[in-house]
Amino acid sequence: MHCYENLINYLSCGMILTGLGHLVLHKTTQTSYGRHMGPSPPARTVPARLAWFLQEMPALLIPLFLIFTSQNSSSMGKYLLLGTFCLHYFQRTFVYSPRTRGRPFPLGVMVAGGLICSLNGFLQGCYLLHCAQFDHEWSADYRYKTGLLLFYTGMAINIHSDCILRNLRKPNEIVYKIPTGGLFEYVSGANYLGEIVEWFGYAVATWSLPTLSFAMFSLCFIGPRAYYHHRFYQEKFKDYPKFRKALIPFIF
Ligand SMILES: NC(=O)c1ccc[n+]([C@@H]2O[C@H](COP(=O)([O-])OP(=O)(O)OC[C@H]3O[C@@H](n4cnc5c(N)ncnc54)[C@H](OP(=O)(O)O)[C@@H]3O)[C@@H](O)[C@H]2O)c1
Repeated sequence: MHCYENLINYLSCGMILTGLGHLVLHKTTQTSYGRHMGPSPPARTVPARLAWFLQEMPALLIPLFLIFTSQNSSSMGKYLLLGTFCLHYFQRTFVYSPRTRGRPFPLGVMVAGGLICSLNGFLQGCYLLHCAQFDHEWSADYRYKTGLLLFYTGMAINIHSDCILRNLRKPNEIVYKIPTGGLFEYVSGANYLGEIVEWFGYAVATWSLPTLSFAMFSLCFIGPRAYYHHRFYQEKFKDYPKFRKALIPFIF
């Protein structure tokens, strides 16, 4: 397949602008799911497990479809797509989703999330398979090595932190407790911190605008969410650890 460079650039800029737009529009309130849903639940909801499964799956299926239908694409591009992006979304679709104990998800938020995942799966897949030019030395480049190290470190933090959160609840229980252990000892949004490190690592390893655009989007979407989670804990729990920050240990 041909590299549609203009399309890739437009989509990447669109991803960054969507993230920045979200940041501006949600200065005082957060996207309405989980604890930020407000007192009256939305009319149409989907069970959390199904919602996460349907929302995240396109980000796995679309790149896989592109990999198996494209010829003559770079093997480094394929490796980076399979080893990083698809691995993350395989975990999110088939491991995280069926185990979550979250409250039902608003249908509208699920559809919007599914659209972003589809668009991003297409963007990253097309870019890495058909546009990226990695020469033979790229696998020895310090950006590639550092980026992958960051990606896998972030992924480990994200999975471990999501696991801590899940274990705070018994099945069918909807309560919020103070998370402890791992990076939660330092920040309220440990799972978000892991995810942000992951996508910036991916951007460094691939050194490109499309991958940076998704890292920026993630930062704009879940960075403020970590801050609002932190405020929620401070207001709800009088004994919430004073030392703990919102997203960046010791700093913010
Ligand atoms: N890349 C991106 O742009 C992006 C965007 C969104 C999410 N994500 C990732 O998707 C995953 C889930 O995101 P999320 O926004 O749902 O995270 P979250 O608000 O931290 O919640 C994660 C799960 O743990 C539960 N939970 C959270 N805090 C709890 C507590 N103190 N006590 C008991 N249960 C608690 C939540 O239940 P409730 O749902 O009932 O609150 C939910 O099931 C994260 O790994 C995140 O990084 C990525």
